[in-house]
Amino acid sequence: MPTTSTLVFALVLATIALSAPTPTRRSKTAPKIDPKTFAADSSFDVPAIYAAAKAANKTKAPGISTYATTYQADHMSVIYADWQHLKHVSVFHFMADMDIDCDGTDYDCAGNSGGDPETRFGALDASSVPWYVLPEKFFEPQNKAKALKGNDLGAIICNGKMFYAIFGDSNGATPQVIGEGSLLLGQACFPDEPISGNYGHGQRDVAYLVFGNKVPTGINMKSPKIDIAALKELGDQQVKLLVGDLKL
Ligand SMILES: *[C@@H]1O[C@H](CO)[C@@H](O)[C@H](O)[C@H]1NC(C)=O
Repeated sequence: MPTTSTLVFALVLATIALSAPTPTRRSKTAPKIDPKTFAADSSFDVPAIYAAAKAANKTKAPGISTYATTYQADHMSVIYADWQHLKHVSVFHFMADMDIDCDGTDYDCAGNSGGDPETRFGALDASSVPWYVLPEKFFEPQNKAKALKGNDLGAIICNGKMFYAIFGDSNGATPQVIGEGSLLLGQACFPDEPISGNYGHGQRDVAYLVFGNKVPTGINMKSPKIDIAALKELGDQQVKLLVGDLKL
């Protein structure tokens, strides 16, 4: 025969169990723009480019080259310049995770809190423009040294695929964090992950290739959208030059 106190205890436990919040199921949202429109040409050997990027780690980029991948600064990532002075292209590259940036006109994207209605060079739409982010402390000196420009082309290798993006925003937080892409880029890279304004890709397995001073045509900073076809055209052209220079 259970005592009264045992019964009360059981009742309390049952109440706690019933009132515990059910875990929210994060749902995937389909990208607004078809990722194929900014994906690299299928003729490229993406695994070979990825392996080459990971192995090209002899020369750190000039200036501050090392940045935290999280605000807790529990892991650092180095920007390399082994490919800065190739014959036909100038590329900085690094490996990092992918946080999601919804600043710009889509600043109230699902999960985003306290977004900024502007991006570094205008007010882009995070669900319509694939972009990547660089730390301010990296961009400013390279820009001064004429090695990088705002909106520069990037080739982002994620999840076995390669997508083109522009350098659309910069990170000026404390610490300045590396490894970030727009909502559209995140959705393109990780279609099976519930990417949102507060949910990114945590593994540091994304290769970011930044092509210095190569800005796609069709970017007007008064518009929240860009010419995606022009981005892809420049991307395929520049990656072809990179692959040639690296003899891949
Ligand atoms: C540099 O790349 C080589 C080849 O992938 C790897 O074995 C080595 O650990 C890397 N070094 C650093 C510091 O990342």
